[in-house]
Amino acid sequence: MGPISNRYTELVGIEHPIVQEGLGPFKTARLAAAVSDAGGLGTVSMPGMPDDLKEGARTFRAHIEECASLTDKPFAVNIPVGVDGDGKVMPFTDVYIDTVFAARAADEGLARQLKVLTTSAGYPGGYVQRIHDAGMISQHKVGATRQALKAQEAGVDAIIASGFEMGGHAPSKAVHTYVLVPNVTQAVDVPVVLSGGARDGRTLAAALCLGADAVAMGTRFIATEDNADWHPNYTQALINAREGDDVAFDGVYGPCRGLRNKASESLLHTDATVHSAVELTRWKIQQMQLAQTEGDVENGLVLAGQVASAIADVVRVAEFLPAMAEEAAGILRSLAAPVTLA
Ligand SMILES: Cc1cc2nc3c(=O)[nH]c(=O)nc-3n(C[C@H](O)[C@H](O)[C@H](O)COP(=O)(O)O)c2cc1C
Repeated sequence: MGPISNRYTELVGIEHPIVQEGLGPFKTARLAAAVSDAGGLGTVSMPGMPDDLKEGARTFRAHIEECASLTDKPFAVNIPVGVDGDGKVMPFTDVYIDTVFAARAADEGLARQLKVLTTSAGYPGGYVQRIHDAGMISQHKVGATRQALKAQEAGVDAIIASGFEMGGHAPSKAVHTYVLVPNVTQAVDVPVVLSGGARDGRTLAAALCLGADAVAMGTRFIATEDNADWHPNYTQALINAREGDDVAFDGVYGPCRGLRNKASESLLHTDATVHSAVELTRWKIQQMQLAQTEGDVENGLVLAGQVASAIADVVRVAEFLPAMAEEAAGILRSLAAPVTLA
């Protein structure tokens, strides 16, 4: 047991209340295994939306199996409920959810480890029962209190509340973590995970003070030795980033935060009448992959949160994660000591 255990660590069976959240459309099998091995909850990310979804499903399953082969601890998968311009759920969501169920059905050991299915983006109501029927924990990411209440009503077991400073697809209502998380923790009864801006023991302690049960990080985990599947230029771009070097542009489903560069600037001035929505979506995903696989951090989209401005080093998850939990516990202990007022 780690220095901070609570209803969330018990629910998902982890040592420290620290989650590495989905970082699609990129590969995070090794990173997820390292986070789970260190006592947190690692997440295998969805691999994008290729034209050939059968190929996408094969890639996703291979990533899931790779993660399971590298750790014997619990881990999660993230699958956005992608919704198109007409409000219809995009086909990849069902394909990837079925892929998870098939991988678990084929391997009992993997099924015991792959316990958590995190949905994000659109409403998860159509999936919660299926996730439970498969014997999994349903966790859903929201960017507004109204969405948190709807997710709780739909029966999810835990909620990730993500503020506007987060990397990747951000809440359309643009509510920041410091406002959103206490609103959500006050409104719902299920465990809440803070996401957006967390980076160390101080931010974990602050999350617990805001009523959250855990933190989920994306950007901090990119700059780790364990994230060897990504091009080193991506990590270097995060380390170089300063306050104000990020921007929210129009992503695949709503606003998306990344570093300000040629690619993201071009999206701020895109004339939507010139490109079809399908072409533009394909281009955005290609540019994300260009940054991650080829390291072109100028013409590629470098998804990252505002917290990139605070990241100055590449850390090893096995040391970083338990130290973060210890730091948070130390801060909370010192705050609990008697306060002397002048
Ligand atoms: C490169 C990158 C890719 C992301 N991809 C996804 C994704 O596929 N699905 C999702 O739900 N969230 C995605 N996110 C959001 C993260 O899961 C997480 O909520 C966010 O990074 C937390 O904020 P932080 O970056 O300040 O830690 C992504 C974030 C980044 C930085």
